[in-house]
Amino acid sequence: MLILVTGAGGFIGHCLVKKLKADGETVIAADWKYPEFERSPADRFFNVDLRYKEETEAIFRSCGQFDEVYNLAANMGGMGFIENYRALIMRDSVLISTNVLEAARKYQARRFFYSSSACAYNTELQKDLNNPALSEDMAYPAMPEAGYGWEKLFSELLCQYFREDYGLVTRVARYHNVYGPNGTWRGGREKAPAAMCRKVILTASKGEIEIWGDGKQQRSFMFIDDCVEGTLKIMRGDYPHPLNLGSDELVEINHLADIAMSFEKKHLTKKYIEGPLGVRGRNSDNSLIQKVLGWRPSISLNTGLEKTYFWIKGEIETLRAQGVGLEASSEIPEVTDKRYVG
Ligand SMILES: NC(=O)c1ccc[n+]([C@@H]2O[C@H](COP(=O)([O-])OP(=O)(O)OC[C@H]3O[C@@H](n4cnc5c(N)ncnc54)[C@H](O)[C@@H]3O)[C@@H](O)[C@H]2O)c1
Repeated sequence: MLILVTGAGGFIGHCLVKKLKADGETVIAADWKYPEFERSPADRFFNVDLRYKEETEAIFRSCGQFDEVYNLAANMGGMGFIENYRALIMRDSVLISTNVLEAARKYQARRFFYSSSACAYNTELQKDLNNPALSEDMAYPAMPEAGYGWEKLFSELLCQYFREDYGLVTRVARYHNVYGPNGTWRGGREKAPAAMCRKVILTASKGEIEIWGDGKQQRSFMFIDDCVEGTLKIMRGDYPHPLNLGSDELVEINHLADIAMSFEKKHLTKKYIEGPLGVRGRNSDNSLIQKVLGWRPSISLNTGLEKTYFWIKGEIETLRAQGVGLEASSEIPEVTDKRYVG
């Protein structure tokens, strides 16, 4: 097959490209940056800004009809980034989603995949601990995460309307917190699992690690291999509406810290500080994906986090050998790149 992956310089996009190449497909990659940690194995890499229609269409014009288009490009990051850059996130990702979907229609792609998020769900239902897991019908009435979540709902609907009005085959997954090797682990765009591993690795025994809030927030975290496998299953399956793609192993952030500490038997003190928290409790209800695909993510947090921990440790050792100084604590990134600010 001839396949396009946008966001192929990012975490999930790059891992998807690797899987598709291993499966023997012809893969075209697009992103405005190359993967951070490895070379992309894509057959061709378009270094383009997908916020611009002409740059997006140029890919389709030069490659012909795609069998599959996976749109994973988005301006996004961890909770600190999402809460501080609403305008940037929403403006950029609305433009990217619209351009890629429109080009897929115009150049008659056979199938289109969009990566939505658990942040599309109604936040009113996530204010407490031990909330019921989120099932697909709980996105409406709409009250998603500010900025980022509204863009996700907008793009989900755009996919639906393109399917209904133009007959483009579209598939949508609502990812819940994806982590693993090759994911961003420093700089402010990283998510909780990578940040926790970094903090534990960089803190000397008997030291303190910082945790945003009281650490009682609950989440589920999906390992990257489950994400890639589920993405392919959703894309190639028959179910046209949004589907949860997430783990249903619910953990407190405090417990996430304990698991990260367990790999090298570190006993660190948790220091609770103010920080961006997001919703209080969120889990994935996997009944529907199990029903329509006969599959659900199954890699345990312990197994996935151990792989991630030692991958980050390897990256840290490489950087230290080059004399790079590293901070354990998390920061809110300052966006200074002119391409982002515009
Ligand atoms: N990682 C998660 O936990 C998670 C959870 C829910 C949803 N998602 C969604 O999955 C998708 C992929 O996420 P990810 O974790 O790989 O993120 P990522 O930030 O690693 O990858 C996104 C990629 O999009 C690229 N991009 C941004 N703006 C661009 C532009 N104007 N032109 C070209 N490329 C541009 C970035 O350079 C980046 O490489 C995103 O849509 C994200 O919202 C991710």
